[in-house]
Amino acid sequence: VLIVVIAVVVGLVLRNNTQQLKGTFIDRCKKFNVSDCQKVWDAFEQAYVGRDPCEVPMEAYDPFIAAAPFEPACNRMMFWSKTKDVVHEFTAKSDCFVTLEDTVLGAVADGLTWCGKKGSSETFTTDCPGWVDCVNNPVRSFWKRVSAAFADAACGNVTAMLNGSITTPFSSQSIFGSIELKRFNSTRMESLNVVMVTQKNPVANCTNASLKMLKAELDNGIQYYCKEVSEAQLKECSNNPQITCGACW
Ligand code: APR
Repeated sequence: VLIVVIAVVVGLVLRNNTQQLKGTFIDRCKKFNVSDCQKVWDAFEQAYVGRDPCEVPMEAYDPFIAAAPFEPACNRMMFWSKTKDVVHEFTAKSDCFVTLEDTVLGAVADGLTWCGKKGSSETFTTDCPGWVDCVNNPVRSFWKRVSAAFADAACGNVTAMLNGSITTPFSSQSIFGSIELKRFNSTRMESLNVVMVTQKNPVANCTNASLKMLKAELDNGIQYYCKEVSEAQLKECSNNPQITCGACW
């Protein structure tokens, strides 16, 4: 009897894990008026379910990319590195710019942790490998794959918000540096506009050495610009709806 009770409890806990993540995923998906969020979930889940959580390559999410409807917003696409909070606070308040996390591709999984296990059909949300525990973990591979898709679609004048409060605002090891920047294509893109977000005592500005590496990696034919914008100025812009898109800097 005890064994049966334990088995039922364990079963419920496992099911709750899957159901909880799926519920969050589907709820977020529906906010984007997607017709078949179950189909998007199925495509997502097949990437990692039943697999060793250190053996999920980014290609495992190709079916998810194919299933998730995503339309590029030319001239409004916003990339970022080391500015997660400030960039999302900014884009949430105005419709001027769209980050990956503001699209269905990124929104469904933003802030979540998940993995599968060999021989199991469950989704786990605890005891999953961390970002650096192994390269091919489900979460890291997901962000690599969706970032690649977002960057493949980058068109017109594109913006990237970097952090002027750290000594190396651009890192070639970041997702922005290692995936997105490399996929920017001059046949679709006009310019890359770096916005260096600074605080009272900026550590880095547009003359920072790391930006030389960024420029060197940028596809020839894409114009490069950089502008320093204080965090206070950003806040003022997003709180002031009269300021039209792009007029903030
Ligand atoms: N450990 C844990 N989490 C990490 C790590 C790490 N070493 N590196 C990145 N992450 C996760 C975190 O969730 C972090 O907030 O990725 C997020 C972004 O990491 P950053 O280094 O700040 O930026 P970057 O790697 O350049 O990724 C941001 O990729 O998500 C896309 O379009 C988006 O342009 C954006 C870029």
